[in-house]
Amino acid sequence: MKIKVCAGSNCTLLGSMNILDQIDDLKDIISEDADNYSDEILEVEVIKCLGYCKNTNKKVAPVVVIDEEPMFNATSQAVMEKIVNKIRKQN
Ligand code: FES
Repeated sequence: MKIKVCAGSNCTLLGSMNILDQIDDLKDIISEDADNYSDEILEVEVIKCLGYCKNTNKKVAPVVVIDEEPMFNATSQAVMEKIVNKIRKQN
């Protein structure tokens, strides 16, 4: 899974670095509980402004893109849920 976290000034101001920290914590949780997750690797990329804030006057920051699907006004909780839902094994 490819995750891009925006590190541009708009997104940083609105908390994208907290989201990045949470993704790092989630990686640890997943590796300690490997039986319950697929072994898909989380590739996290930090990008200096993904460009979404430039082409709109809507509020979009912070932006996180998961497998090419952008999440606007992303919260840690929404990002974690999306990642976990994609990689948690169904019992
Ligand atoms: S600063 Fe994040 S999309 Fe521009």
